[in-house]
Amino acid sequence: MKTYLVTGAAGFIGANYLKYILAKHNDIKVVVLDTLTYAGNLGTIASDIDSERCFFIKGDICDYSLADRLFGEYKFDYVVNFAAESHVDRSIENPQLFLTTNILGTQNLLDAARRAWVTGKDEYGYPTWRKGVRYHQVSTDEVYGSLGTEGFFTEETPLCPHSPYSASKTSADLVVMAYHDTYKMPISITRCSNNYGPYHFPEKLIPLIIKNILEGKKLPVYGDGSNVRDWLYVEDHCKAIDLVVRLGKEGEVYNVGGHNEKTNLEIVKLTISTIHRLMSENPNYRSLLKKKEKDANGEISINWIDESLILFVKDRLGHDQRYAIDPTKITDALGWYPETKFEVGIVKTIEWYLANQTWVEEVTSGDYQKYYEKMYGSR
Ligand code: NAD
Ligand code: TYD
Repeated sequence: MKTYLVTGAAGFIGANYLKYILAKHNDIKVVVLDTLTYAGNLGTIASDIDSERCFFIKGDICDYSLADRLFGEYKFDYVVNFAAESHVDRSIENPQLFLTTNILGTQNLLDAARRAWVTGKDEYGYPTWRKGVRYHQVSTDEVYGSLGTEGFFTEETPLCPHSPYSASKTSADLVVMAYHDTYKMPISITRCSNNYGPYHFPEKLIPLIIKNILEGKKLPVYGDGSNVRDWLYVEDHCKAIDLVVRLGKEGEVYNVGGHNEKTNLEIVKLTISTIHRLMSENPNYRSLLKKKEKDANGEISINWIDESLILFVKDRLGHDQRYAIDPTKITDALGWYPETKFEVGIVKTIEWYLANQTWVEEVTSGDYQKYYEKMYGSR
């Protein structure tokens, strides 16, 4: 029986990972630590918390005494750190919060793990570690910076972050590596490309576009929409992390990506046409539209759901042009590959949002409106 500390599991990827490992492994216990920022929603994981296999603690990864108390009480074998401030645009507005959570929060967890897991010293003075423990850091391809039209990020690509977000994630990775090199701490790191799927907070591109279409709003595309991201279905990311935590080599970095490069404009156009198609095939979905104009058949009209909704807006400062991952290492070492084809994953994702508007309303009921108006005005 392994006991996990999973931080940030009320957010997008952490929640998907929590559901995935609870379904996959019977013999585990999981403690979720999440401070529930605007991006964390307890409702997402409420049905997973049962006080037998899965416990929830509301708290900050930067809290020294809380971390010590949890390590003492639960005797964790694995720490999987998802908790972070994760949105590039917000990092441009408030870098300090990103540095605090993403770097110091990581270091606090590493130190708590060190205090709990070190059993003594070897003949050279290096700490010795409890057998079978692992600290895993969930990182991002954004640490590598930006690519031109050619090439892929490998684990050897020099770190070259540009945004305050990616700089904070890079710093955290370096601290994790430093604990491995200095204390021989058993760590691993995964660096993944852009995820999409259920429970994605609608400030990120794909869920924001879906939400705006349903609300009859314009679809903001930064710059000329030519920036490229490598999109991976979130469950494939969760599978990769599960493999690396249990079977990955200590001290190693694994890149995780979908070989699925798309420009932002392609993503937006595909989302528009998929929503249009789903609403043609299933007119019941049309009741989700805020605009209730009727078409010639007396149905709620979808004639306006087309590319004229796209609005090119001011570009993001320091906008990375292209990300693309070479996942050869994790494929060769652990047999991982992206199982969900994008054409399938994007339809599943859109259908999930259409079926889960209550969730969207719940997560966007608070601070979101103020944030949206500040970023995009009242469009
Ligand atoms: P998210 O913003 O949806 O969720 C982050 C979670 O962390 C939220 O539940 C939030 O409440 C929690 N949190 C924030 N600060 C905290 C703190 N101080 N203490 C405890 N909990 C805190 O993020 P996400 O998209 O799920 O990303 C999860 C991780 O994966 C992040 O580390 C991110 O850098 C990384 N990542 C994300 C992507 C992506 O496409 N979203 C890609 C690669 C890597
Ligand atoms: P985002 O989902 O914020 O992820 P990241 O910045 O981590 O890649 O953005 C994905 C891409 O979409 C990025 O190039 C910025 C762009 N984008 C828009 O064009 N419009 C938007 O409203 C948002 C949120 C993002």
